[in-house]
Amino acid sequence: MIVLGIEGTAHTFGVGIVEDENSYCNVLANAMVTYMPEKGGIHPREAANYHAEHAAEVISKALSQSNLSMNDIDLVSFSRGPGLGPCLRTAATAARALAATYSKPIIGVNHCVAHLEIGRGVIRECEDPVLLYTSGANTQVIAFAEGKYRVFGETLDIGIGNCLDKFGRIVGLPFPSGPIIEKLALKGKRYLPLPYSVKGMDIAFSGLLTAAEQYYRKGEDIEDICYSIQETTFAALVEVTERAMAHTEKREVLLGGGVAANKRLREMVEIMAKDRGADFFVPPKELCVDNGAMIAWLGLLMYKSGIRMKIEDTTIDQRFRTDMVEVTWRG
Ligand code: ATP
Ligand code: FE2
Repeated sequence: MIVLGIEGTAHTFGVGIVEDENSYCNVLANAMVTYMPEKGGIHPREAANYHAEHAAEVISKALSQSNLSMNDIDLVSFSRGPGLGPCLRTAATAARALAATYSKPIIGVNHCVAHLEIGRGVIRECEDPVLLYTSGANTQVIAFAEGKYRVFGETLDIGIGNCLDKFGRIVGLPFPSGPIIEKLALKGKRYLPLPYSVKGMDIAFSGLLTAAEQYYRKGEDIEDICYSIQETTFAALVEVTERAMAHTEKREVLLGGGVAANKRLREMVEIMAKDRGADFFVPPKELCVDNGAMIAWLGLLMYKSGIRMKIEDTTIDQRFRTDMVEVTWRG
């Protein structure tokens, strides 16, 4: 079965094409464009206009990457949520138009669950992980329990990526600032104490962001501040992930989301996994960030498990929670 998936929850408009090969995911194409605001944060309507302008071109690119035409596609899937309303509506509209024009079935999927399933799909050894999902807007620790993907811990305010990008904006770094902060942190030597807020299984970042800004205004070294931000926020992420692993007795940890590109975060999660005798996995970068291939793969799993949607069922849901999904494709 060959599926075309459309992602459009936030900055990225992505189109992926996948097929199943002995129940693993074979990525045939994964094309994307990313909206970059000229200054400030993301403006939902401007991002959606950008997606609408590029939709046809990205769909064509994915088809040509895979040497396929729409006739070869068995199913169209798209991200129903969670995300920004105007962006979700644009991706859903593109998916409905394709499905209707070419008389293909259509399925809307949960974006967060897709981040986890693509890891299981492309990494053969990865069977039942705890996912640490760290992106711009999202920070969640997710695992499968009693028929659903449950959120064991999450941010109470902003996502880890937004925290890094916001600090970057305060100190005049370009967007996205995460990768630049990673480089600066490598040269940091002195740890500056920052608020560490793990509340139960949840995490908050805004207090730390304010304290980091104060260090900057007081003239502390930017490399030391970046180093301290990474050490503190990543330690909190690792702590919550480890507790979820202990609670669920799972022996695998999977990283996902754009911040998973960070080498220091990978190293810290890997050390924790090793200490527990657990396995550590991270998919290739283009499958960690928001992408169409993960949406296509989850659509494929759902369709094969018997789920069907009519066009009228394909409404978007900005607050589509991970644990609202009935997981019909896992034994
Ligand atoms: P969503 O939250 O809807 O999943 P998004 O568009 O915000 O989507 P991603 O594309 O998954 O998220 O990731 C973008 C984020 O990843 C940005 O905040 C960026 O700063 C951060 N990021 C990218 N590379 C690195 C890195 N090497 N270190 C730290 N952060 C990084
Ligand atoms: Fe995402």
